[in-house]
This record gives sequence, structure tokens and C-alpha cells, in this order.
Amino acid sequence: MNRIYDFGSGCTNPDTFPVEELAKAAASGIREVGAEFSRYPGDLGHLGMRQILARRESDREGIAIDPDHVALTNGSMQGVTLTAEAFLVDGEPNIIVTEELTYSGTIGAYRRLGVQMAGVRVDEQGMCIDDLEAVLQRLQHAGTPPRFIYTLPTYQNPTGSVMPRERRLQLIEVAHRFGIPIVEDNCYADVHFEGDKEPALYTLDDTDHPHIYLCSLSKILGPGVRLGYVYAKPPMLKKVLDRRYDGGNSLLAASVLASFFGDRLWDHVNRMNIALKEKRDAVFAGLQTYLGDVCTWSHPVGGLFIWVHLPDDVDHQKLRQLADEANVRYAPGSAFHIEGVDLPNLRLAFGYPPLDAIHEGIPVLAEGIRSASGVADSGERAAAG
Ligand SMILES: Cc1ncc(COP(=O)(O)O)c(C=O)c1O
Repeated sequence: MNRIYDFGSGCTNPDTFPVEELAKAAASGIREVGAEFSRYPGDLGHLGMRQILARRESDREGIAIDPDHVALTNGSMQGVTLTAEAFLVDGEPNIIVTEELTYSGTIGAYRRLGVQMAGVRVDEQGMCIDDLEAVLQRLQHAGTPPRFIYTLPTYQNPTGSVMPRERRLQLIEVAHRFGIPIVEDNCYADVHFEGDKEPALYTLDDTDHPHIYLCSLSKILGPGVRLGYVYAKPPMLKKVLDRRYDGGNSLLAASVLASFFGDRLWDHVNRMNIALKEKRDAVFAGLQTYLGDVCTWSHPVGGLFIWVHLPDDVDHQKLRQLADEANVRYAPGSAFHIEGVDLPNLRLAFGYPPLDAIHEGIPVLAEGIRSASGVADSGERAAAG
């Protein structure tokens, strides 16, 4: 069987998944919960895990977080759907404002929930505030204000952009002025490679404006563990959890993870990030060598994705077919557009493939891009010339 070059989805690095350490942590974590397993965990979930996650937020953001304002969820995706369900109103148009390019999973979930998405233009600093204001004004005039603004201000998926502090403050000001709640999805928080971190939006707003914050362990450990969390102050947290009918998050998973993370969260994160940065840099180098003359791409300082701009004349179907034949996986730009517009972009996820697969796979992808567009020159020749 030919090798698969998997740049498709936002998975983490298998080589730094701490299998043995987790296995050891499982024994003590499970013993600590003991007979409590015979009860339902409840809406918030395992206290020790919530304390660790509250500390994660406090350490990063420099403000105190109450563990009782944190609820464990089945990945941050459950937070995405619980939040939407909490705000939807039967029989009325339900509109949510999002970046016009956003996470494909959220787009799919919102569509299935019957939500209409109103897209805001994005640039290399995230959501454009003048356009946000124009969209909110239009919706207000139409008598259909949105239920909330869903935003990915940090390591945006798919573009990798980070919204600067000034723009964050503007976003909050606009949301206040129009009276629209903010849902901040910070799923990639701490997958950070260089430079300073921007503050989470929730730290910049000390009013009681409704703000719901979603985060996860998926990107600093692995999506297979399915542990995410919602952080919101009362009464907002209760409103979100009101649609929770699952009896709470698995105590088994949370107890093992709490025992594993204990006081080594940041050591673990740093170890993951060193390996991920090496992979990101390998993709950068491959793109430069093999596609530097025909494509441009984002230079994310965190997250798991590189957003590639293809030659305008690329035949997307042909590229997909060539990539499939060569076992190269990637996510097409259209998957991230709220209306499915066929963009001249693709998203490369660098977390999962091993380094040598990156070294081999990028030239294969490059050959496909050249064959699917008018630029049939070999990348190596172009780069040398
Ligand atoms: C922006 C964003 N939010 C949420 C998710 C869902 O992640 P999980 O449910 O694994 O925490 C993802 C996964 O890729 C994502 O990119």
C-alpha cells in the first residue's frame, strides 16, 4: 500500500502523545474517583479537571478563573452545539454572525441546526471590524438581530490569523453597542510557537456582557480524548448547560486526564509545541522550494494549519483527483466558506503527518498543483531559476 500524506484534519502529533504516562496516570486517577463512578458526573463534571483547566486559563491570561464557571464537554464541539441550541428560538429566523471563513465543523453543525450564518470579511488579522459593524447594522435594520457573534480570534481556522489586541477591543465595543453576545472559540489556545500571545477576548471585558468561551484539550493532547470545556459566568453558563441532556462528561476520561496533567500541563504543552513547530517549518520549507514561484501562504505563529493561496487558474476537481491518486490529503478552501464558495485556497494541517512524510508529501502535492493549473514547470527548476 502506498504511503498516505495526510495534511487533511487538525490532529495532533502522534509521536508526542504520552501513552505510557497516561497509562500510569489512569491507575491513580481512577482510584481517586473510586465509588463516585456509581453516580452521574453532573453538568460541570470532575472538579479536579476543572481546577486544572481554570489554572490553565489563569496561567495563560493572568486573571483568576473560578472552576465552578467551567463545565467539561465532549470536545469543544459539544460547546459549539450547546451554545447554539441555547440561543436558538423556535419559529424565528436564527442568525449567527461568523467570520466568513470559519471552522468547517461549526459550519456543518450550524447548518443542521437550521442556523443562517451571516459572514464577516476576514483579513490577516481576523474578523474585519468595519464589516462586522456593517453586518450587524444590516441585520438590525432587517429586524433580525443575530443570536451571537461566533469568532476564532486566535490561530483562526483556517487562515491561522491572530487578532491584535486593538481589534479585540473594537470587537467587544461593537458587540456591546449592538447588544450581541460573544462566543469565543479558543480551541487552539496554547498551540503557540513564537512571539507574545494575545489575550483571550474574555479577559478584555469586565462588564457582564454575555460572553461564552469554548476551549479544548484536543489540540494540546489529542482529539481522541474528547475533552473540551465551556467557561462562562452565571447566568450564561446555566443557559448553555440547559440543553445538556447527557448526564455530564465522562468521569473516567476526566479523572485519568486530571491525574496525568497534575502539575505538568505546561511541560507537556511545551514538548508538543516543539515538535509541531518543526513540522510547521518543514511545510514552510517545502512550500518555498516547490511552490514558491506560484503560491503564497499564511505564516501562523500557532495553531495547526497553513492556508495556501493557489494559482488562480487551478482546476480544483483535477487537483482533488491527482491528490487522491497520490494519497495526498488536504482540505479544500470551500469547506471553510460559510456559503461553500469555491476559493483558490487549500488548508494544510501539519500536526499529524511524520516529518519524513511532510518532506515527501509536499513535492507530491506541488506536482499536483502544477499539473492542475497552467504552471507545469517543476518546482525545483522554478526555485533554482
Ligand atoms: C475552531 C474549532 N473549534 C472546535 C473544534 C472541535 O474540536 P474538539 O471538539 O475536538 O475540541 C475544532 C476542531 O478542529 C476547531 O478547529
